[in-house]
Amino acid sequence: MKPYDWRPPVLTTSRLVLRAFTDDDAEPLFEHARNPNVTRYTLWDAHQTVAETMMFVRDYALLRYREGTAEPYAITVAPDPRPVGACGCFWASQTHQTMELGYWIAEPFWGKGYVVEACRAVLDFAFAEYAPERIQARVIEGNDASARVLTKLGFREEGTLRRVLLRRGRFEDVRMFSLLRGEKG
Ligand SMILES: CC(C)(COP(=O)(O)OP(=O)(O)OC[C@H]1O[C@@H](n2cnc3c(N)ncnc32)[C@H](O)[C@@H]1OP(=O)(O)O)[C@@H](O)C(=O)NCCC(=O)NCCS
Repeated sequence: MKPYDWRPPVLTTSRLVLRAFTDDDAEPLFEHARNPNVTRYTLWDAHQTVAETMMFVRDYALLRYREGTAEPYAITVAPDPRPVGACGCFWASQTHQTMELGYWIAEPFWGKGYVVEACRAVLDFAFAEYAPERIQARVIEGNDASARVLTKLGFREEGTLRRVLLRRGRFEDVRMFSLLRGEKG
């Protein structure tokens, strides 16, 4: 059992610092989470108010930390401490030792390789800390940049779940990717 106030350890890469979210992140994160270009292919909708972003921090992030899950990590571009996105691995099924990887980064930071860099660190950490057999990732059809991120991380595409997701009144196809423990580079 992890202590009640447990937080995921800080992970540092060559350009990024990944750390736990705090209340202070709500305002700067809202400036990015309100952008509908960011949420075009996400399960969550663009935030309408800073209170919604605060709810993400308190009712989502802090609850996950309380159960000992190292997700979501705030992505920060050093030396600026403000969050510009989020990523992390959570249990899709603890019984079957399967985790799932999720990520997003703010639009001004797209195309710089930051998400691949951040995900390499969280994948290394997740395999070492939680020893899952499989880490999967789901990509809504059309999100080719996200599929490219996964390919760069060594994930293999398994197939497409047809019309498996009802999102914003529309059934979406979802591409399933996975990385197995033995395949990690
Ligand atoms: C998808 C996302 C995570 C990519 O992050 P990123 O840091 O910009 O990705 P990277 O810079 O590491 O690399 C993106 C790759 O996709 C490629 N790419 C970008 N747009 C593309 C497109 N429309 N079609 C195909 N490839 C594309 C880039 O060229 C790059 O590949 P390369 O390094 O071989 O040139 C980011 O755009 C994002 O957060 N989007 C909004 C939220 C989201 O969709 N999250 C994922 C949900 S599954």
